[in-house]
Amino acid sequence: MKILIINGPNLNMLGLREPDIYGRRDFHALEDFIRGACRDQGFEAELFQSNHEGAIVDAIQGAYGRIDGIVINPAAYTHTSVAILDALKAVGIPAVEVHLSDVTKRESFRQISYAGMACVKSYIGLGFEGYRQAILFLKDYLKGRENT
Ligand code: DQA
Repeated sequence: MKILIINGPNLNMLGLREPDIYGRRDFHALEDFIRGACRDQGFEAELFQSNHEGAIVDAIQGAYGRIDGIVINPAAYTHTSVAILDALKAVGIPAVEVHLSDVTKRESFRQISYAGMACVKSYIGLGFEGYRQAILFLKDYLKGRENT
């Protein structure tokens, strides 16, 4: 089984950006962590990061017919992008939302998640571990669907 992990804008700046919120480990470390978690679950992993909304929409559309599950941290587009929500709905691939920080305890403009409306589950405020939890969840979720 193959999963696509999508990271949105400014996540490539991890380590540098607001370390008190996002930690000191860099994006390379996050990608290594995600690859390891996928390997542990026997998933083939495709990783994608972009600072551009349309590129993220293209990546979701390009997953159709090819990818079994999506893990997505849309970053700031979480709170603004109906286009990413619509793309997730269009392809109908089971998706899990991840946020490194606890957005529920941050600014009011972070309290809406458009992408989350198309996701079967969200992991918020767990740092890197949220991605591992999302991958574990997808493993069970996809296995459950295989058996129905
Ligand atoms: C984020 C939370 C968003 O509100 C923010 O814009 C990000 C990262 C997180 O992982 O905590 O860029 O998605």
